[in-house]
Amino acid sequence: MGTGTARIGILTSGGDCPGLNAVIRGAVKSAARLDAEMVGFRRGYEGLVDPVTYMALDTTNTSGIINRGGTILGSTNKGRFAARTGIDERVELDPQLIQAVKRTIDQLGLMGLICIGGDGSLAVAAQFHECGIPVVGVPKTIDNDLSATAFSFGFDSAVACATDAMDRLHTTAESHERIMVLEVMGRHTGWIALQAGIAGAASVILIPEIPWNWDNVCQKILERDNVGKRFSLIVVAEGAELPSGGFVTTPAGSVGGQVRLGGIGHVVARELHERLKRETRVVVLGHLQRGGPPTNFDRALATQFGAHAVRLVLQRQFGQMVAYAPPDVKSVKIHDAVDKISRVSPDSSAVVAARTLGVSFGEYPPGESPLLRSLMEELSSRDTKDAELAGAGS
Ligand code: F6P
Repeated sequence: MGTGTARIGILTSGGDCPGLNAVIRGAVKSAARLDAEMVGFRRGYEGLVDPVTYMALDTTNTSGIINRGGTILGSTNKGRFAARTGIDERVELDPQLIQAVKRTIDQLGLMGLICIGGDGSLAVAAQFHECGIPVVGVPKTIDNDLSATAFSFGFDSAVACATDAMDRLHTTAESHERIMVLEVMGRHTGWIALQAGIAGAASVILIPEIPWNWDNVCQKILERDNVGKRFSLIVVAEGAELPSGGFVTTPAGSVGGQVRLGGIGHVVARELHERLKRETRVVVLGHLQRGGPPTNFDRALATQFGAHAVRLVLQRQFGQMVAYAPPDVKSVKIHDAVDKISRVSPDSSAVVAARTLGVSFGEYPPGESPLLRSLMEELSSRDTKDAELAGAGS
């Protein structure tokens, strides 16, 4: 190790996503310039306790990783460090684990610990802070479901992957006049499905936040058939609830107390085939959305998060989490950030725009959304007024 005046720990926890290495590199490079040194713990929080596993990080061994997917430190999303901090749903960390973490921090002489994680991992960081462990959080998740940050890195890369899949499905769907169903991740939110659905020109987008029914999905497809478009692309979020109620989960069951979502794409494809007697195919994009290089946006955001997190540690602003408030990166209390899930609003401008262009969310027969109806009424009353004025002027 060098002779830096401060030493900072860093770890990546929970499901991986593109941009984790960019955060690590951003933190290490800025720490080096601020005369601090960095230690990276392996396998998430597990690296902090028996057996403590870490590596010294420097600008040499973190060079060239800005565009590399995954995490050079490894990650775990189950095991001993499972916590929740919500008022109704609090799960306490084992006090012996907390003591072990404190010992590691003391023995390595760490000024602070940067924890990069999603809501579950940040709940652990929040409990660390309550127990006096000097911690700073960095939000990551492809699901984009943390309300304290406008975007988490990883999301844009996941959307890019799903949009690329849509583009590819488009050409083959059109050639064979098929209905293609793409299932994307996102847990109990529809951010990935919504963005990729808009960017990939979906006809139907099914998300957890908007209840839908089979008849209306079928109607949209038939409406397209009527205008000669005998193919349709449907994006369905893994967490979309079925019209009959309930989620589709994978047989592997739950992980860390959370159900494993997955399989709704097959249910949608099967049902549409039965109802419409049309050829349907399904693609479950799965972990392709989490692998590979980050997009430019995610690289830039993740790098800024890394640099900002180091500054927070050096300023001893513990218990804070970096957050994106465009165009700036700011910080918020970790406590305020966890367990406040951000969900797609059915009245958001993205949903409204998509409906206006004819995308169906399966909740109204095509052309019958209240929004569209009021827009049409407004336009026709404007036409009438224009005609009256024109008549008066002639
Ligand atoms: O939270 C990220 C995420 O990829 C979700 O979108 C998905 O439901 C889950 O993790 C998958 O987890 P695992 O990698 O454990 O299967």
